[in-house]
Amino acid sequence: MRAVISTSTAEADLYLQGAHVTHWTPRGQRSVLFVSPKSLFTPGTAIRGGVPVIFPWFGPRSDGKPGPAHGFARTAEWAIEGTKLRDDGNVEIALVLSPNDTTRGLGYDSFHLRLRATIGSSLEIELETRNDAKEPLTYEEALHTYFAIADIRQTSVSGLEATAYIDKTDGFKRKKLGNEPVRIAKETDQVHLSTKATCVIHDPVWQRRIIIEKAGSDSTVVWNPWIDKTKGMSDMAPDGWQNMICVEVANAADNAVHLGPGASHMLRAAIHIGSSLA
Ligand code: BG6
Repeated sequence: MRAVISTSTAEADLYLQGAHVTHWTPRGQRSVLFVSPKSLFTPGTAIRGGVPVIFPWFGPRSDGKPGPAHGFARTAEWAIEGTKLRDDGNVEIALVLSPNDTTRGLGYDSFHLRLRATIGSSLEIELETRNDAKEPLTYEEALHTYFAIADIRQTSVSGLEATAYIDKTDGFKRKKLGNEPVRIAKETDQVHLSTKATCVIHDPVWQRRIIIEKAGSDSTVVWNPWIDKTKGMSDMAPDGWQNMICVEVANAADNAVHLGPGASHMLRAAIHIGSSLA
């Protein structure tokens, strides 16, 4: 089930499965989010594109216990908490995820997630995590956003200059980016650590910049599967890698969040569009 939002400033779709925004198109713009035409949209299967919500671990589960890649939040059915048409014309939708049999089976029985998406000429997503346990909770999280771009080879991402990162394509080696933007010319899967910076995706072909501001996030992940990995993905078209880049507002690896009993943490992303000349 999904919400279809159409306002004077934007159109968007939001699925209850995963609290997953799949489309967001500000009026007068091309679609900002990439969604694979081969994505299955089947209950229990992660949607390939849009903004998957990753919680409580990033990538494979690392504590030796079983569990799906990138956690359970993106395939869980969330509940609607409320919707609001604001005076400024933007629409807010709040969804919540509480423990259920699946999460309890994975050992998570005392958390509360609340996601609020605000849709307008900007897209804002807030993910609040509350630890309802008597014990501390350590978790990873991400808004694993797939952005639509004209051509990955001509795209760059600024904002991560001189940051340290884990290169997941090179045995998880720790590296440092030079004083230059990220450019993609091969499979790229890097977790940039301890960075709160705004990132900008520069798309010279479509002559736009996608600006990603964030708060409550110390990691930014950049991912493109490139040619070979895409071939092995049944929910991607063979050339899908050319038109997408994930720039993910996250807390992962060294930047996992530690929450005391009763404590909350808020992760925020705000996405705006600028012209390439501005
Ligand atoms: C990225 C990870 O965020 O997500 C990659 O860094 C992973 O390692 C990618 O391959 C896609 O993951 P999935 O589970 O949606 O195929």
